[in-house]
Formats: sequence, structure tokens, C-alpha cells
Amino acid sequence: MKKILVTGGLGFIGSHTVVELQNEGFEVVIIDDLSNSSVTVLDGIVSITGIKPEFIKLDLKDKPAVINFFNTHQNIAGVIHFAASKAVGESVENPLLYYENNITTLIYVLQALEKHKIPNFIFSSSCTVYGQADELPITENAPIKKAESPYGNTKQIGEEIIQDVCKISENLNAIALRYFNPVGAHPSTKIGELPIGTPQNLVPYITQTAIGLREQLSVFGDDYNTPDGTAIRDYIHVVDLAKAHVAALQRLIANHSGGSTYETFNIGTGTGSSVLEVIQSFEKVSGKKLNYKIVGKREGDITAAYAHTRKVNDILGWKAQLTLEDAMRDAWKWEQKIRS
Ligand code: UD1
Repeated sequence: MKKILVTGGLGFIGSHTVVELQNEGFEVVIIDDLSNSSVTVLDGIVSITGIKPEFIKLDLKDKPAVINFFNTHQNIAGVIHFAASKAVGESVENPLLYYENNITTLIYVLQALEKHKIPNFIFSSSCTVYGQADELPITENAPIKKAESPYGNTKQIGEEIIQDVCKISENLNAIALRYFNPVGAHPSTKIGELPIGTPQNLVPYITQTAIGLREQLSVFGDDYNTPDGTAIRDYIHVVDLAKAHVAALQRLIANHSGGSTYETFNIGTGTGSSVLEVIQSFEKVSGKKLNYKIVGKREGDITAAYAHTRKVNDILGWKAQLTLEDAMRDAWKWEQKIRS
């Protein structure tokens, strides 16, 4: 059984990926500093899969602790590196925190990979690297645009660091997955998103408004150049996204011809939905009317982004199976469960 280290494995995307890895027969070790997650997520994972992954509470900024972890955990076949901060607004206010949290930790993990000759690495990147792309849907060859925020910049810099390491490494196969907009929750309602404070992202804001935690959703702008005037994104169910990591890992493991490789893949559904369409979808699956109002645009927001998915379909054999409605239904079930 191959052992996979998942950093940030108790977070939203990390925990769903742990479940899919276990379902596919991988042994999982989780590192998480619990800065934006809870140890109770482990119970959720166990109640879905029946398997308790090894968990080590560890801050990846603590270099001696990282070195010690890898010295005492042999036979790690691959690393999926989720651990990072991801609040765009916070990154604008505290850029150094973001460079420290997202870049230093990546460096320490890559140093350990080199030292222990761990050959497989998956990095959580984001479609934010494309900015407002000139052509839609967005292919992996679309130019990288100047980042709108320090958070976005950490993803661009992270990808560059990995590419540079692959150039000199004897045997490092790396994949950067560029996520579009991850939403939803596990259909079992055992794990899901746990935003701390006021959610910045659309879907948790919708479900928190519907449950009564927030008074009203602000729709940021209705004068975009789109059919209904609201901005368009590619909302991908977190379970589909988790499965994309397993597909990427299987490609890396099968790819051991020696030498190093670096690839990027878009992880989205290929379909764009406007903010109003997301609200309608929520209202349909929940049977509730959502209280919302149109306000001004949010600074830094782009008009439209959705993925071209041919590369990931062809090479990883992965395709999103779940719809926006599935995601809204699961997000709503999860919201009701955690507030009950
Ligand atoms: C945001 C980040 C992106 C990050 C991603 C991670 C910004 C500018 N971008 O993407 O870098 O990778 O989260 O999940 O923060 N909306 C509303 N009202 C709200 C919240 C959102 O109308 O209260 C709209 C936004 O204007 C946008 C859409 O909903 O059009 C999706 O927003 P969000 O969920 O925050 O994702 P992104 O902005 O696409």
C-alpha cells in the first residue's frame, strides 16, 4: 500500500482528498497546523471510510519539525501539498504573512522531497494565475497574468519554484492542479467547508444567509459584460476535485521513467455559471428564497472564468461528474447539519 502525505489534510479540499485516497487504497498521513481547520474533521473522515489516517499536528513553517517529520516517516511515495492560506483580502492586508505561510512552507517541503528522494508531488494551484484570460474557456496554455493579490502571487511563485526544482532534480514528477471554484460538501454530510468568520466566497455566504446567520447576500455587480450582468465562474464539486488529485497521483506513480516532469491541469467542469444562476440553483434545491441585493463590484474581481477541460480529460482521464445543483444541494445539507 503506497503511503501518501497530505499537508493541510484537515482542510476543505484536503479532507475530501484524504477520503478519495483511502477509497482507492492509499495509506494517508496528514499534517495540519489546525490554523484553519479542526481536529474533529478526522472523525468525519473515519466515519466515511472506516479508516483512521495518521495525523500529526505540525506547522510547516517550523523547519526543524519538518526535517524531523521526514526523518521519522520513511517510505512516503508522494506528497499532496494543500497547506496554505487562501483569503485574498487578508493577503492584501498582510502580504508578508502570505509569502511566509505559502512560500516558506513549500520550500521546506520541496527540500525534504529532494533529501529523501520522494518522487511524486502535487501542488494546489488556482485559476487565479490566469487573471482575466483573453479567451474562454481557459486552456493551460493561456498566459499567466500579473497577480491581483499576494495570495494569487504565491500560487504563481509556487508554480515557478516547483518548475525550477524539476529542472535540476534527478527524479521529481510534479503536477500543479489549477482549481477553478471549489464548492459543495461530501454527500454524506460528514465533512465540508468550515469558514472561520464571515465567508468571503459565494457559496458559503449563500448557505449562511439561508440558514439565518447572515442577513443578506450582496451580489457584487450586475453590469458585467455577461448575459445577466453578473460575473461568471466555473463551480466544481469538491468531491470531483478530490478525485482529480487521485487521478493526478496515479499518473505520477505510473510515470516513473526517470528524470523529472512538471505538468499543469485545469480542474473545473468546463461550464460557467453566473452569480444569479448559482442563486437560482440554490433556491431550486433548497426550496428557499434567498435574500439578496445587488451592490457594486468587488475590487479585483474578473468578469468570467471557466476551464477548458480537454487536457485533463485526455491525460488524466478525469472529468467532473457532479453538477452545480449537486454541489448546492450538498452545501445546503452540510450547512443545515453543522447548525443543527
Ligand atoms: C476567490 C478568489 C480567488 C481564489 C478563490 C478561492 C477573489 C477576488 N478571488 O475567487 O483568488 O482562488 O476565491 O476559493 O477573492 N460574490 C458575490 N457575493 C459574495 C461573494 C462572492 O457576488 O458575497 C461573487 C464574486 O463577485 C464572484 C463569484 O461570486 O463573481 C465567486 O466569488 P468567490 O466565491 O469569492 O470566488 P472568486 O472570486 O472566483
